[in-house]
Amino acid sequence: MEYVELGKSGFRVSAIGLGTWQIGTRLWGWSKDYNESDAIATIHRAIELGINLIDTAEVYGEGKSEEVVGRAIADRREEVFLATKVWVSNLSYDRVIKAAERSLRRLRVDAIDLYQVHWPNPFVPIKQTMRAMERLVKEGKVKCIGVSNFSLSRLKTAQEALSSEEIVSNQVEYNLLNRKIERDLLPYARREKITIIAYSPLAKGILTGKYAPGNVPKDLLRRFDILFSPENLKRASKILENLRVIAERRGKHISQVALNWLTKEPTVVAIPGAKRPVHVEMNAGAVGWKLNDDEIREIDETSNSFRPERVKSYVSVLFRLFKFW
Ligand SMILES: NC(=O)c1ccc[n+]([C@@H]2O[C@H](COP(=O)([O-])OP(=O)(O)OC[C@H]3O[C@@H](n4cnc5c(N)ncnc54)[C@H](OP(=O)(O)O)[C@@H]3O)[C@@H](O)[C@H]2O)c1
Repeated sequence: MEYVELGKSGFRVSAIGLGTWQIGTRLWGWSKDYNESDAIATIHRAIELGINLIDTAEVYGEGKSEEVVGRAIADRREEVFLATKVWVSNLSYDRVIKAAERSLRRLRVDAIDLYQVHWPNPFVPIKQTMRAMERLVKEGKVKCIGVSNFSLSRLKTAQEALSSEEIVSNQVEYNLLNRKIERDLLPYARREKITIIAYSPLAKGILTGKYAPGNVPKDLLRRFDILFSPENLKRASKILENLRVIAERRGKHISQVALNWLTKEPTVVAIPGAKRPVHVEMNAGAVGWKLNDDEIREIDETSNSFRPERVKSYVSVLFRLFKFW
């Protein structure tokens, strides 16, 4: 496994982490095949492979994900860098403190290594949230402060709202089908030494090559995610083809090439979601080797030309909803 410094914190996290959104979440049929003993085996396998960054959130499975993670790491706490998040409705001063206490209990730990604001809330002054975060750090209940889904301007405002601490990371969607952060957030993060924690690094599974038009799980979230439309899967196939050629040449899987590309610089770490040990094994194998400059250029070119279709109309959404039921 490869490790990088998280922001300027001095803590080292694995370039490939483990996302646990699907652990405990049966919401909208997303994880119908979820199985708790597999989830625990997955976390244990990840740790064995040197993955120390485990990401969860109070909202995942309404606390279930934190509980399962807490149970899984109870006898190996020191091997894990534990990241969780406070939900958008809990960002007032008192609510942040109470939410952190609840997460600490569910996770069965004395301190959260990285506590992240899950989404910005324009109705709660960020100063209030950040004052509470700093209090948690002073009390030793949180080691590092991070944010998630913050635009560049919100990130700067959040930084200014802190008096003694620094924001070490911003967790945002970043993958070969969504490279928006390269416009402003990524260059800024690079300059300021803020880690980008890339979520949905496999584009919710599309970049593993296992989905194709007509072959998409029937869960509600995927069905309504325009990225999974037959047209978008068709448009993504050019990128998948390019990844497949490189993967075959290198003796890797296409998902490993996609993750390797993402983590090619130390500013970015990826947290692919896995709920089976075999998937973390594959994901851990995404690092420890390097794509060469020509391969990176090729991937850049094909992925830069990807233009997803957007939701066309409410009628098409209603039509899909009708078909689902
Ligand atoms: N901060 C936020 O707002 C936010 C939002 C979304 C996600 N996240 C975080 O990011 C994590 C990952 O994001 P994500 O789950 O949306 O997307 P993802 O990691 O891009 O994709 C997860 C999907 O990929 C599949 N997968 C993973 N590794 C695989 C492998 N080696 N081979 C084949 N399939 C593989 C999984 O399949 P199975 O279904 O078969 O397990 C799952 O369906 C989440 O768990 C969560 O921690 C954060």
